[in-house]
Amino acid sequence: MKKSKIVYVGLSADILHKGHINILKTASSYGDVFVGLLTDQAILSYKNIPYLDYEKRKVVVENIKYVKKVIPQKTLDYTENLNLIKPNYVVHGDDWKIGVQKKTREKVIKTLKKWSGKLIELNYTKNISSTSIKNELSNLISPQNRVSRLKRLIKSKEIVRIIESHNSLTGLIIDKINIIKNKKKIEFDGMWSSSLTDSATKGLPDNSSLSFSARISTLNDMMDVTTKPLVFDADNGGQIEHLPFLIRSLERSGASAIIIEDKVGLKKNSLFKNQTGTKQDKPQLFAKKIKKICNSRQSQDFMVIARIESFILGKGLKDALNRAEVYSKAGADAILIHSKEKTPAEIFSFAKEFKKSKNFIPLVSVPSTYSKVYEKDLIRNGFKLVIYANQLLRAAYPAMQSTAKTILKNKRAFEADKKIIPIKEIINLIKND
Ligand code: SPV
Ligand code: MG
Repeated sequence: MKKSKIVYVGLSADILHKGHINILKTASSYGDVFVGLLTDQAILSYKNIPYLDYEKRKVVVENIKYVKKVIPQKTLDYTENLNLIKPNYVVHGDDWKIGVQKKTREKVIKTLKKWSGKLIELNYTKNISSTSIKNELSNLISPQNRVSRLKRLIKSKEIVRIIESHNSLTGLIIDKINIIKNKKKIEFDGMWSSSLTDSATKGLPDNSSLSFSARISTLNDMMDVTTKPLVFDADNGGQIEHLPFLIRSLERSGASAIIIEDKVGLKKNSLFKNQTGTKQDKPQLFAKKIKKICNSRQSQDFMVIARIESFILGKGLKDALNRAEVYSKAGADAILIHSKEKTPAEIFSFAKEFKKSKNFIPLVSVPSTYSKVYEKDLIRNGFKLVIYANQLLRAAYPAMQSTAKTILKNKRAFEADKKIIPIKEIINLIKND
């Protein structure tokens, strides 16, 4: 029997449309179709995390009648898979002749040459793309999908980068802002609902004066207009008996994680110099709070992150490590090791030791005082989540003060106009259709 030819098609297949079916149908007319399905990591290397994870996408693609087999493609680059299966043909839409995939295409042509394989390019199906469908769908994103996205990002990315959001407008900035560096889009992965900046925005001190119900009201406003995951700063979580109700509200709003800190008594912000009177909870009592959250959450994807305050209270490495063990065993999904030093030395020494433990779980950093640290150094030391905890409020406040002073000085607004954005930009930021 004549051996059939092998045809390779690389796909993300998050949202399938007729353009994909067209490619797979044509590919199957050349031989057996092997789909190289891009993993979540591969997709994240050039665009946002897919709506459906790899396993869910695989089930869909392997059941399409034109497809013989699905294999993972772990990078945007096809070379590894092509060398593995040496296909006679690669089929792709001709849209990749320009843009981020241009180099990938050139490498495919070069690799195929080794065994005289051919690249077949089909006319790109106009007016339809997964990205445009996704943009339309982004307003309808379900709370469930948003809840699970943080865990998936932590699994797939080197480091997940989130920043403080104190109201809906800040949330919109975080949702939309990006820069292009070395042809790669860089953006924030999500929002931090900070007790400090949420309280300060409402003119209150960061000592739990602001109730959880008020915090959740701000949170809901932000969730209404944004799409990225949110991590909620719950101070010490309050009374253990009340935790299930807080978790229920957070999950229903679509928050992805709660962070609780192991302090007791009247809450004081950890960055205050004077921590007298501030006490740490007994590790076993705090572990009970973690267990309570684990048992009351609806979704296993909703993360509980335990925040260790040993360094803040001058307790040292041994105490921090002991607590990390206890909290991890109680079910915490990650550890925030907090510090108010000028350098990351103490949190890095903690990470170095904790990495050796069989109870190691991902680490979270809040580089407010040690702001010189680069993300690449956090990655190297085992950190998977970085929280820029207060920078946007710190930026907004002096800008508002300075504009107010300019108007007072000049007794008119004209001079201030030069320093501020035209109202048109605000209007464009906010959708009105
Ligand atoms: C916050 O942003 O409210 C935090 C981080 O909890 S810190 O201010 O460093 O305590
Ligand atoms: Mg806080």
